[in-house]
Amino acid sequence: MANTIDKSEPKANSRTSASGSIVAQDLEVIFTANGLNTIALERTNLSIKSGEFICILGPSGCGKSTLLNVIAGFVKATSGVAFLDGNEIEHPGPDRSMVFQQHSLLPWKTVRENIALGPELIKDNEASKTTEHFLDMVGLKKFEHHYPEQLSGGMQQRVGIARAMATYPKVLLMDEPFGALDYQTRLVMQDNLLNLWSEFDSTVIFVTHDTDEAIFLSDRILVMSASPGRVVLDIKNPLPRPRTQLMFTDARFIELKKRCMEIIIQESMQSR
Ligand SMILES: Nc1ncnc2c1ncn2[C@@H]1O[C@H](COP(=O)(O)OP(=O)(O)OP(=O)(O)O)[C@@H](O)[C@H]1O
Ligand SMILES: [Mg+2]
Repeated sequence: MANTIDKSEPKANSRTSASGSIVAQDLEVIFTANGLNTIALERTNLSIKSGEFICILGPSGCGKSTLLNVIAGFVKATSGVAFLDGNEIEHPGPDRSMVFQQHSLLPWKTVRENIALGPELIKDNEASKTTEHFLDMVGLKKFEHHYPEQLSGGMQQRVGIARAMATYPKVLLMDEPFGALDYQTRLVMQDNLLNLWSEFDSTVIFVTHDTDEAIFLSDRILVMSASPGRVVLDIKNPLPRPRTQLMFTDARFIELKKRCMEIIIQESMQSR
């Protein structure tokens, strides 16, 4: 299945402005719980261009979710600073949306009502039309009156993605959004995501444990060190777009996978 991305084309439905750049300078996050200090992030620096699709790989507990949470404004850095379009990130805002590993849908609201929360949050004058558009985009029009528990895991994640994107965020933060899905569904979701992204100017920061997924989706891959986390590999993805999952066997794909895996294995060993 080939997605239809051509980032050189203007996007008809895009409402985001050409912005969404992220810079982090010497970010450090120390959590204190039960008398124990945990350094979740250490001297983390990164620079992400507007509209870039970044994937982050790294061992469990190295601080990937913490990094997303700082960018989302949910967690305050102990020291260092993160910027969105040159402005210091101090709290959450509708210019950033998060999609979590497990869906975070409201169980008492239907598919349509869950998606509508996005446009309502940003006081979209055309909330109903926007909701309709995103219902269509994620292929759930037929299920608009279903409740989350009546959907499969992949469908629930599609609702979550639609809700997150329906605010037309500058930055879409995705924390292992497909981690709980079976392999086949994950491939379909990856393809869907690239197609959705082709409609937007949004910057995407996508955390995954799956190297194939990171290579299939990204413009650039960041690999984080074992805890405490910092970026130890920052590598551009040479694969052209549009992409197809048949590229998993492309020599460039395999070479990139090898480079990432070497570092990941090394870092994972250190985290034991
Ligand atoms: N609210 C918190 N209070 C105390 N410690 C925390 C808190 N959140 C995260 N940590 C600690 O910070 C470290 C980094 O956690 P984080 O969730 O960012 O890792 P991760 O890379 O996302 O891991 P995983 O791949 O397993 O999701 C861990 O040691 C974790 O225990
Ligand atoms: Mg995490």
